[in-house]
Amino acid sequence: MTGTSHGPEYNWDSYSFDTRQVHAGEFDDQVSGARIPGIAMTAGYRFDSFADARERFDGTADGMIYSRSRNPSSRVAEQRIASLEGGTEAIVVASGQAAITCALFALAQSGEHIVSTASIYSGTRVLFGRSFARFGVEVDYVWDASDDDEWDRVIRPNTKAIFTETIPNPKNDIVDIAQVARVAARHGIPLVVDNTVASPYLIRPFEYGADIVVHSSTKFLSGHGAALSGAIVDGGTFDWTASSRSYPLLTDPPRAGVKSLLERYGRTAYARLAREAVVNDIGPALSPFNSFLLHQGIETLSLRMERHLENSGTIARWLDEHPAIDSVDYAGLPSNPAYALAQEVYGGRTGSVFAATVRGGEAGAQKFLDSLRVISHMTNIGDTRSMALHPATTTHHDFSDEMNLQLGITPGLVRLSIGIEGVDDLLADLDQALSGIRP
Ligand SMILES: Cc1ncc(COP(=O)(O)O)c(C=O)c1O
Repeated sequence: MTGTSHGPEYNWDSYSFDTRQVHAGEFDDQVSGARIPGIAMTAGYRFDSFADARERFDGTADGMIYSRSRNPSSRVAEQRIASLEGGTEAIVVASGQAAITCALFALAQSGEHIVSTASIYSGTRVLFGRSFARFGVEVDYVWDASDDDEWDRVIRPNTKAIFTETIPNPKNDIVDIAQVARVAARHGIPLVVDNTVASPYLIRPFEYGADIVVHSSTKFLSGHGAALSGAIVDGGTFDWTASSRSYPLLTDPPRAGVKSLLERYGRTAYARLAREAVVNDIGPALSPFNSFLLHQGIETLSLRMERHLENSGTIARWLDEHPAIDSVDYAGLPSNPAYALAQEVYGGRTGSVFAATVRGGEAGAQKFLDSLRVISHMTNIGDTRSMALHPATTTHHDFSDEMNLQLGITPGLVRLSIGIEGVDDLLADLDQALSGIRP
């Protein structure tokens, strides 16, 4: 007699975060039974029939069409990320910059406006100030995210999105997402949150009122610094018809006799729009190979994050006491202005990307960076290896001195992204690199 098999689990919705990061979105190879989803290196997909092709194109059948909009390897990463963030649907793209661009271009067009917090990744600020401006989308900034009046002053009738980061790169000046979400809801504007530095392991912005989450999944999600990728996640939370602002691509029929995206897709309408009308038009498709690296990297997210956090806390506290260090920007330190919020939302563990100011200004920072041996002097964050960088002369070199001062990017400031190496080796490297710097 043969035993009865109940068959493998395919619906991971009710499982824990740690289980979903390993399994959500996976599929078995139907031919060989290969356990790991294969890399679907294909540009297109054979249609079953004339009618099937028509139905896939008009959205009444589910199958894939072309890898600029959908791919099986990308689908694994998309379902895994949507599951971990608690969203309705995710779209992976070629980089974090592509994710931010596509997420916001789905909401705002030429002549419209976006409000962002001021302390964000420098590349996003450059993107807003250069390419968004060239396409006629204006971005204004709020400097104190906790000041409702400042938000109210900057938001305009044509503001179509609010943008912020959970744990801003590089200053670790965490944002109270629930409070920004209240402002956004009061004005009927969708809140788009870059959750790159925190990752869904530390915070799931939809639980705090965000509507759309974006990632540079190049960083902690993928985790090993081998490939670029980005993700857009739809929370399915925003009420597009209740807002006094217009989102016609979602609410209006594209032509007579065709239903609107909202009528057809409900809580995944925004994701449909982002995937089919923005990502598919502009074309930043993620290579299936990089999708594979992404979904495989996600499998160990919680384990890596625990080590990142443990190492970062130890190093931030150690640097804070070091005579060659003027200050440490890490919200988990009691001296930090956001300490109470850090305790409440993050249990004091505010990621592993933060800044430290070396004594002696630029000369001090230079001596420190040129002396590092274990920690890599490079740009990137969220990798297994520890990295350090001097923002003022690299990522922020295009900004005026006044702007950098306002952003807190001072000549002695270095950005650290603490990896998962042995913490004693990292402390020893920091110690020797700081040893030549006079207190
Ligand atoms: C917070 C944040 N968002 C977005 C990006 C852009 O991502 P990518 O480099 O994958 O385009 C970065 C890159 O450093 C980042 O740190």
